[in-house]
Amino acid sequence: MKAAIIYFSGTGNTEYVSKLFKRYFENQGVSCVLIDVSKKKALNEEYDFYIFGAPIHAEVFPKNYIDWILENLKSDNKKCLIFSTQASNKGSGPDQLAEILIKKGYRIIVQDFISMPNNYYVVAFEKPTKEEIKKAKEKAEEKVKSLVQKFLMGKVHINKVSKLRLNLAKLEYKLFSSFSKGWAKRNLTVDMKLCVKCLKCVKNCPTKNIKFKDNNFYFEDRCISCQKCLHTCPTNAYLYKGKRFEQYKI
Ligand SMILES: Cc1cc2nc3c(=O)[nH]c(=O)nc-3n(C[C@H](O)[C@H](O)[C@H](O)COP(=O)(O)O)c2cc1C
Repeated sequence: MKAAIIYFSGTGNTEYVSKLFKRYFENQGVSCVLIDVSKKKALNEEYDFYIFGAPIHAEVFPKNYIDWILENLKSDNKKCLIFSTQASNKGSGPDQLAEILIKKGYRIIVQDFISMPNNYYVVAFEKPTKEEIKKAKEKAEEKVKSLVQKFLMGKVHINKVSKLRLNLAKLEYKLFSSFSKGWAKRNLTVDMKLCVKCLKCVKNCPTKNIKFKDNNFYFEDRCISCQKCLHTCPTNAYLYKGKRFEQYKI
């Protein structure tokens, strides 16, 4: 059997969990391909089943992830597993995706939330400690192990939020999205004394929102606030409101 793990990850949490799914499925003889939607333009192969995962941004899955699914996933009746990573223990992202996948004919066998450290601390909240990160990783691994077993035994396990919460979340994301579009432009600069011009931020931005011209960085109006540029810069050259910060490293 061959499965595809279709994911988006801003700062590495969802990628970490996706790799755990790959490891535990492969331990059971299922080969898995990791598909990062910010790198892969289209899905050109068929798989026996699918695993979908993304972080929660303001309660739901980020727009770039949902858009990729709408554009690239054709209707099918394959089995699938949906997970989200978020700082709390719940969010509306999996239900939002489930609605789309069900319309496309997919059969959801497992759907659940995996709590991970909060990567939004540059803007709000506290930076997670090393101990908190370690504990979250251990708990995530236990959860992935049990979800893989349930999926392979065909045991239906759906952890949902209420329909009201999902509908409010969709509205909340519309507001968040209009605030977020210019977030990088309003808040980020790059310390050119630290920048080594690797242009990793430009290449890896999931919405191609960062431009480098005349030895300077410019931000357009497509930011989704995923925090990837800030935390993956190899020299920590990004400044938030003119200030340095500690990067998040899972
Ligand atoms: C813009 C933004 C909004 C977020 N909103 C929520 C939220 O509504 N609920 C929550 O529990 N976590 C929220 N988080 C935390 C992330 O979902 C969490 O840290 C996630 O594991 C990050 O995954 P990644 O490293 O794969 O991007 C938010 C993070 C960001 C960057």
